[in-house]
Parts: sequence; structure tokens; C-alpha cells
Amino acid sequence: MDLAIIGSGYVGLVTGACFADVGHNVICVDNDPAKLEALQSGKVPIYEPGLEEVIHRNVSTHRLRFSGNIEEAVDKSQIIFIAVPTPQKPNGDADLSYIEKVAREIAGVLHSYRVIVDKSTVPVKTGEKVAESIKRYNKHNAEFDVVSNPEFLREGCAVRDLMQPDRIVIGAQSERAIALMKQVYEPFMAPILVTDINSAELIKHAANSFLALKISYINALSAICEASGADVEKVADGIGTDKRIGRSFLNAGIGYGGSCFPKDVAAFITISEQLGVPFTLLKEVQRINAEQKDRFLKVIRDTLWVLREKKIAIWGLTFKPDTDDIRSSVAIDLVADMLREGAQVCAYDPKGMEKARMIKAIADATFVNSALEAVEDAEALIIATEWEEFANVDLAVVKEKMRTAIVFDGRNLFDPKTMAQLGFRYHSIGRAAVSPA
Ligand code: UDX
Repeated sequence: MDLAIIGSGYVGLVTGACFADVGHNVICVDNDPAKLEALQSGKVPIYEPGLEEVIHRNVSTHRLRFSGNIEEAVDKSQIIFIAVPTPQKPNGDADLSYIEKVAREIAGVLHSYRVIVDKSTVPVKTGEKVAESIKRYNKHNAEFDVVSNPEFLREGCAVRDLMQPDRIVIGAQSERAIALMKQVYEPFMAPILVTDINSAELIKHAANSFLALKISYINALSAICEASGADVEKVADGIGTDKRIGRSFLNAGIGYGGSCFPKDVAAFITISEQLGVPFTLLKEVQRINAEQKDRFLKVIRDTLWVLREKKIAIWGLTFKPDTDDIRSSVAIDLVADMLREGAQVCAYDPKGMEKARMIKAIADATFVNSALEAVEDAEALIIATEWEEFANVDLAVVKEKMRTAIVFDGRNLFDPKTMAQLGFRYHSIGRAAVSPA
């Protein structure tokens, strides 16, 4: 099929590349000339495992191309996917101005029947507004249908999530649009759920909020484990093996971050309030998430007493492993907190350094080139992201390099007993702290 994707950000780029990979002809459109130039010259602006190969493979067979020309893209495609950002406004609302602008632009160049699909995460009822907007600016009175088709990909495993989805959600009213959408997704061989547009939009916010709730649930449990001497990992296994609960997204840590959960939970709360049915449970999810970082900081302060002039190593700056994304990363907040208290922070991340260096709030940190370089002479090590590379570091060497062997593990990467045997004082999440054996 001939498809256009408007917006070559995270979702747009991965979706476009994977659509091309299953045989569709895809034009990815973006209005950022620098990004376009990079993409057209074979550079991929984000780090995502496997993405570069998929893009190069499909560009070379001409199934995928990048363009700044929305009119040509609309003209040549049966379906136009909107995948532009919906950032958070100061009041928690989703900013829909990019969507509205693209809807107007599409309407202006629409000549014959097209399906216009919203892939961006939007509040329920946005589809109605997009349809109204297109109708209003539809110069040539062309026929069209609006569809909601939320994306559930996770950064770090986005290509796999897109190629092997658990389900495809299609929110549509017209049979004509449903048939075309089914054709797009046929090669993915995944269950397809057809709903009305409002339900499809709600599914996305409800799914992300539920996952955030699961994380806050285990994080709240981790505090109870610490207070009672239980082990949160065992508790997570014990409840997670119940199929009704499931073990995934029950990893206790320093709280969720990233470009989706914080924004989507806030947006869902705001929409629920606007609809007159405040979803107060989600406020508690947010509160627990913020508290988790504060509890971690308290342990660090209680243990080290004074942070001023202490050399603290931090492993991990991205909001999760296998990405270079540092948006709403709890790790970055931790570095900023340490610096504010006068610590000398020495940070390392396998992929996030370039972006982290640009953040003003952590400009005073020292950025080094390896996990081992970071711990040189350090008085404590904080593990903020669970990169595989950290799990494979020779801990005996780490111990030797540190001035005082104290580790605060915000991701439960290591086994407490082993850490004690190696001579570390080791604090983790929801498990008893251990001292050198
Ligand atoms: C999320 C959703 O998973 C995805 O379906 C949606 O399309 C976009 O938002 P993403 O933000 O890429 O994806 O990452 P995800 O793997 O969900 O992790 C989000 C945050 O939760 C990270 O900070 C991660 O460290 C944290 N997390 C996740 C936990 O603290 N514990 C867990 O058990 C899982």
C-alpha cells in the first residue's frame, strides 16, 4: 500500500520503517529541515536497537523515503498517519496544536478520498476535533475518514514491539476505512481490535496509566518491604506468577520516567476532570512515583551524611536502558539533586551522554567514558539505569577503584549477598541493606 507518515519522531520513524519493511511504500514527512537532511543522508537521529538497519534496508529498495512535502505525500498515499508530538502543557493538558496544524495542512491539499489516522497519543474525543478541522479546511470537498490507531511501542525495543505487536487497535466508524486499515496490518499477523474512535483513544491512555499504576504499586510495596524486612523481588515473583497479575512492569526502582508515562498520566487526570469524573487514583500513582525518588535520596543522605565535596559516581542517565532518550529521566533529576547539595558527580551512560551534556541543570557534572572511570576514587556509586553493560562490570575492580565501597542501586541490578561478600555496603530498593561480610 502507499502510506504517508507525518512526523518523523520516535513513533513516526519506527512506524514508517516497519511499514516499509513489510512491503508498503512509505513517505515519512517532517518539517524540520535539519532532521530531514540527516535522514536523507542516511543518518538516524535516535538510538533504537535495530532501527538503523531497517531504515537503510528499505531506503535502498526505495520503499522508504523522507520528504518535507506534505502535499506530495497526501497525493501519493491511500492512508496518512499523523505521528506528531502531543507535549504536556503546564496545566497537565496535552498540547494538541501540532495535530491541529497537520490536520489543517492535510485538509488544504486533499483532492480525493483518504484515510487520516491519528497515531499520536491524544485525549479521548480528539478524533472528532480532527474530523471537524479537516471538514472546515477541506478546500476541494474531498471525501475522507478519520481513524484512531494508537501505538504501544516501548523505546529500546520499539522495532520488535512494532513488528510483533500484542494487538492492533483500530478506532473507526466507516467500513471503508476499517478495510483499508486491516490491509495495512495484515502482514503483522496480530489480533486486530476494531472499536469506535473514542474507545481507541481511551485505550491508549488507559493502558499507559495502568502500567504506571503497576509500577507505583510495586514501588509502594517496596517501601513496605524495606520497613518490614521482606524482599520486594520475591514479592513481585510471588504475585507476578499469578496469570491474572503478570510479572512484567513489577520491577521496583526509582520511579518511572520517559516521554510517555509522566505526560500521559497527567493528561488522563486532566481529561477525567474535564469530563467531570476525576480519576483520583492516578494522582496517587503520581505521588508514589515522586516519593520513590525522594525515599532513595533519603537513604543516600542518611548513609553519606554530608554530600558536599563528596565524589559520587552515577551509572545511567537515560530513563531506561537501550535508548539515548533522557526525557523526564529520574537519573537526570538525581544528578541535579546531588549537584545542588554540593557533591562532585561523575556520570557515565552507554548512549545518553551526548544528550545529557546539553542539560543545564547537570552541566557541572563530569562526564566520563566508561563505568570504571566513573567509580575511580568515588565515595559512593549510584545505579540509576539498568544497562546490561553495568550488570557485566567486574565488581571486584569496581571495589578496588572506589575510595569507599558504597553502592546505592536504584534498579536492583545485583544480588545483595554477593555484594556483601565482595565487600560492598549495598543499598537497593525494597530489600534489606547489607554491609561487607
Ligand atoms: C511506554 C509504554 O510501555 C509503551 O507501550 C507506550 O507506547 C509508550 O510508553 P516507554 O516509555 O518507551 O514505553 O518505556 P517503558 O518500558 O514502558 O518504561 C517507562 C518507565 O517505567 C521507565 O522509566 C522504566 O524504567 C520504568 N519501569 C518500567 C519501572 O520502573 N519498572 C518496570 O517494571 C517497568
